[in-house]
Parts: sequence; structure tokens; C-alpha cells
Amino acid sequence: MEKMTIKEMQKAIIELKKAKQAVVLAHYYQLPEIQAVADYVGDSLALSTIAKETNAHLIVFCGVHFMAETAKILNPAKKVLLAHGDAGCPMADMIDEIKLASYKAKNPETTVVAYINTSAAVKALADVVVTSSNALKVIGYMQKQGKSILYVPDRHLANYANSLLPDNLPKLNLWPGYCPIHDEYSLKMVEQAKAKNPDALLLVHPEAPLEVLEAADFVGSTQGIVNFVERSDKRQFIIGTENGIIEVLKQKHPTKTFVPLNEKAVCPDMKKTTLDELHTTLLSERNEITLDNEIIAKAGLALNKMYEIQAEMK
Ligand code: 13P
Ligand code: SF4
Repeated sequence: MEKMTIKEMQKAIIELKKAKQAVVLAHYYQLPEIQAVADYVGDSLALSTIAKETNAHLIVFCGVHFMAETAKILNPAKKVLLAHGDAGCPMADMIDEIKLASYKAKNPETTVVAYINTSAAVKALADVVVTSSNALKVIGYMQKQGKSILYVPDRHLANYANSLLPDNLPKLNLWPGYCPIHDEYSLKMVEQAKAKNPDALLLVHPEAPLEVLEAADFVGSTQGIVNFVERSDKRQFIIGTENGIIEVLKQKHPTKTFVPLNEKAVCPDMKKTTLDELHTTLLSERNEITLDNEIIAKAGLALNKMYEIQAEMK
């Protein structure tokens, strides 16, 4: 059989979505041709909230494993598929439930705040989950309880939160995890990019090292960066997060200029999902996320705690 063109494949995906009453959720780092057939494109928080509230029969996630697991935890009655079954997050793999349970046994008084980039089993051991777009608010709220806090697994985001905490509050305890893509950003890259683009604003994701965040004009989640550009009357931006978002920004703002802080900032796992993979997943309903009911219940408590705190702090 002859290979379908991109347009034919996209048409087939759109027809399958309709026939199966499926919703396709895609992260900003996904390939542009995938984003084009998605019902929603967003950051981890926005996509989780859509998964939680959707009436669709089938949820198909174009992203990485923890995102599809989060969708299943928040809406367990739905069938959730991950478009590419092997798309994982190396940072999420830097902590597991055995290591976390052992830490908790040694530190029984500690509150655990887990980044959304963690497995369902790790979330089940956490008191609350945060994403890059609400981490500072939720951590600030938890700090008021006066207990010692362990933040897992992103040491850079924890360092950033610690740098902004008032001196009278205890610092977060760190886990030595990091995103291999954001960890590569350096002050040298900032100096070079600013020298070449002196009028550009530097927008950085909080998974980057603290010295890079301190040099930034704006720090925020992928959605936060998209929103910042939307509101800004500036024309040039240096982007300090995975380069997939640059395509999104260029499409939304064809008259503005976007340059990557690091040309090599590409997440290989996020790029595993191709139109072919998505089409096969939709057609055969493979790569279903299945989780133990107890894990769903416990991880659901930690995720819903995040939503409760968010609502309270509005
Ligand atoms: P966002 O929640 O900001 O989209 O981040 C997800 C992620 O994996 C960043 O590397
Ligand atoms: Fe994980 Fe980093 Fe890829 Fe985000 S960019 S999915 S944190 S490895």
C-alpha cells in the first residue's frame, strides 16, 4: 500500500477522532503536525484539567508517560492512550516509589510536594502535586503549615522556589533530579544570546539552573511563556525552554522574532510521537494506561489537593 501523505494522515486522524469520540491532547513540545490535529494544545496543568473535565469517550495523549497517567488518575472511568508507548520523561525517572518510601520512613514528619513530572506511584506517596505553572503558589501555601518539605524530583525548580522564599521560612529539601534538556542551559549561553540579540527579552522555564533563571526577564511554564509573549509589546525573544515551543510562538506571532537559548534544546521523548504513531494508536487503541485502583485513589488525593489550593488562592 502506498504511504499516506501528511495531509491524508491528518484527515484520517480527524475522522477517527470523530468516529471514536476521542479527544487528542498535545503538549507544546510536540511536532507541529501533531499539534495541528490536536483538540487542545497546552502545558501540563492545562492538559490535565482538560483530561479531568472531558466528556469524550477516549483520551489520547501526545506527550510523555506521566502526562497520560495523570489524565487516567484525574478521570479514571475513561480509556486513556499514550500515542507513543515509549515516550517517557528522564526527569520523572530520577525518583521512584521505593526511594521515596524509604525517605519518608526516615523522615516521617516531612511533607512531600511532587512535581507533576513523576510516576503515578510517586504521586501516590505525595501530599500534593504541583506543575511549573502553580508550583510557587502551592509551595507557598504548604510552607505556612510550618512542616519540613521535600520537593521531588526537580532540584532546579526547588532551588528557584527557595531563592524566592522569605528568609523566615525553612528552605525546601531537594531531590537530586533534573531535566536533561533544561539542565544544559548556562550563563555562557545567556551572554552569547544576549550579545547577538541585545533587544530581546529572555524567557525561561523554571526547570533551568538558578543562575539562568536569575538572568531571565520572565520565568514561567510553557503556557506562561506563550501568555507572556501574547501580552508583551516587545518584538524579540530568547526562548529558554524546549525548542518545540518556538514553532508555536512563530505561528501565533509571525511578526515577532524568537531565537532558542540553546539550539540543541530538544526533548527526544517528546519528538517520538509521529502522525503515523498517533494514527495507529487511535485505530488499534493500543498503549492503554492501566493503574492500580489504590494508586489512582492516593495519587488522585495529591492531585486534587493541588486543585483545592489553587481554588483557595484565586
Ligand atoms: P509545562 O508544564 O511547563 O508544560 O512543562 C512540562 C515539561 O515537561 C517541561 O519540560
Ligand atoms: Fe521531561 Fe525534560 Fe522532556 Fe519535559 S523536556 S518531558 S522535563 S525530559
